Amino acid sequence: MNPERKEIYTSLAPLYDTLMGDVDYESWADFIDEIMQTHHFDPIEILELACGTGSLALSLAELECYTITATDLSPSMVDVARGKAAEFESDVNFFPMNYLNINLQKKFDCIYTVFDSVNYLKKKSEVKLFLENSYKILKPGGLLIFDFSTPKNSLQSVDYLNNEEGDAGRFRYLRSSRYDAKEKIHYNEFEIDELDEQTGKVINTFREVHTQRAYSLNEMLLIVEQTPYHQVAKYDGFDLIDADENSARVTMVLKCQTQQ
Ligand SMILES: C[S@@+](CC[C@H](N)C(=O)[O-])C[C@H]1O[C@@H](n2cnc3c(N)ncnc32)[C@H](O)[C@@H]1O
Repeated sequence: MNPERKEIYTSLAPLYDTLMGDVDYESWADFIDEIMQTHHFDPIEILELACGTGSLALSLAELECYTITATDLSPSMVDVARGKAAEFESDVNFFPMNYLNINLQKKFDCIYTVFDSVNYLKKKSEVKLFLENSYKILKPGGLLIFDFSTPKNSLQSVDYLNNEEGDAGRFRYLRSSRYDAKEKIHYNEFEIDELDEQTGKVINTFREVHTQRAYSLNEMLLIVEQTPYHQVAKYDGFDLIDADENSARVTMVLKCQTQQ
């Protein structure tokens, strides 16, 4: 069967939490919480961009009395997130939104996005646009927290990601992964089978091709310099330790000017 090509994070949505089975979102929420509490005097209104199936927002909501809005480009991912919110009786407000086309009137104390979501922006001009769009909906003194993965991360991960398999009942996937070091583009191709619940036979096969651009720390700092943000911190991995050119994942913390 010739796989039907799908938009990213559509056919993958019911499998996403299986794919991320090893990810400790509770610790990740602790880390984001620690950053917000360290660099903001009173974070209350929080916005997550590219929230996926909502695991981090739902964990964060357990920690403090935050008012959390969480958004993602993919309506299929948002549907899964809403289902989990209903199950956990959480009041996180999930809806679809492209972070390059933010259409919110409200302003926030903190905006964050994690897990390589910014790496989906393949042009530096798009990263700058993302930063500027977020700036417009931050309150004075508000924080933008985002992580990105670097070429080192792609070089380290590409072999174990390649040929990875997983299954979640009615669906299963096979991932092929390759990294073009010259262009700094990481390709993850997913072949997703939908199985008949009675017979276990494949009834549909879908294909999603994900392309992400790895950014070095220096490249990202040069982009940030072109924006009005004050750079507060750049953290290595999941610790409040300063990132450098050897970091595989960097978490940037930027502040909106207090006077606008
Ligand atoms: C690797 S997943 C991370 C999801 C979530 N942050 C997590 O930690 O599980 C990347 C997410 O970015 C979202 N995404 C990609 N481009 C986007 C855009 N332009 N606007 C909003 N979300 C986007 C995808 O739909 C996907 O859910």
